Amino acid sequence: MTDFPSILFPGDLPLLEEDFEFFRDRLLERAGIDLKDGKKSLVQARLGAHLRSIGLKGFAEYRRRLEGLAPDDGEWQIFVNLLTTNKTDFFREPAHFKFLLETFLPKWRKAGGKHLKVWSAACSTGQEPYTLAMCLKAALPPECDFSILATDIDTAVLKEARNAVYPRHLLSQIPVEHRNALSFGSGEIEGWMRIRPDWRKHVSFRTHNLIEGEPPPEGPFDVIFCRNVLIYFSRETIVQVVGNLARSIGPDGVFMISHSESLHGLPTPWQNIRPSVLVKKKRA
Ligand SMILES: C[S@@+](CC[C@H](N)C(=O)[O-])C[C@H]1O[C@@H](n2cnc3c(N)ncnc32)[C@H](O)[C@@H]1O
Repeated sequence: MTDFPSILFPGDLPLLEEDFEFFRDRLLERAGIDLKDGKKSLVQARLGAHLRSIGLKGFAEYRRRLEGLAPDDGEWQIFVNLLTTNKTDFFREPAHFKFLLETFLPKWRKAGGKHLKVWSAACSTGQEPYTLAMCLKAALPPECDFSILATDIDTAVLKEARNAVYPRHLLSQIPVEHRNALSFGSGEIEGWMRIRPDWRKHVSFRTHNLIEGEPPPEGPFDVIFCRNVLIYFSRETIVQVVGNLARSIGPDGVFMISHSESLHGLPTPWQNIRPSVLVKKKRA
């Protein structure tokens, strides 16, 4: 048998159950993310690459390093950033944008709305808030304005979101009538596109942890999007998070979760007005 050189690839580093449990518990405490047992290989792959880059030989050594850190040490943010899942798209779940434009906005306008405030909570790399900016800029008349607060726990995705540069192949996700929101690179940056300043100026990005209760000072909001993140939380955390969000919604505001998420059977202040679109329950 050939004697292979002893190169260890990060994903190959062994991860003991007790170390996995340590990482899992810390992630739960810090982000509310509840990693199931089957996620061991995810932890192994994502933390493994980082370990190698900072010169550590194994997960136990990384665990010892984390155990010795102050709670506000920057390494904890890197740890959380590495273990979040950030999949997103432009115009993801288009029914929400259709509802916003065709049902919510006409009512809001009729009620005398002038400045629409939206919160994209757990915005990942920015496709969701920029989709909102494209829709609202096209739909609102000149006498109305809008602002979008976009937040996430992951500081690495927020950096990408602020930069607003995306690979050009994502253009296919954006309907033709909204492509004026983009400028296209040429020469060395041929394969890239960027959201143009007139759209970017409506969106501000900030770090925000959904499990920490403090409502953003920009609120109350007319619309809150919090989609495809509740799936990572336990039932108790979902109740806590959507309870926190209810403190930030305006009196006639709407709240969107993903079509693959549900608050059904949970004690929350929200009620469905259609699948995955909710309003705050009126007090009895
Ligand atoms: C799958 S992405 C969803 C992005 C977008 N909302 C969408 O539907 O396309 C989930 C995002 O939730 C963020 N996240 C996870 N836990 C969080 C927490 N406790 N507070 C804020 N954001 C969190 C992750 O960093 C990630 O960017």
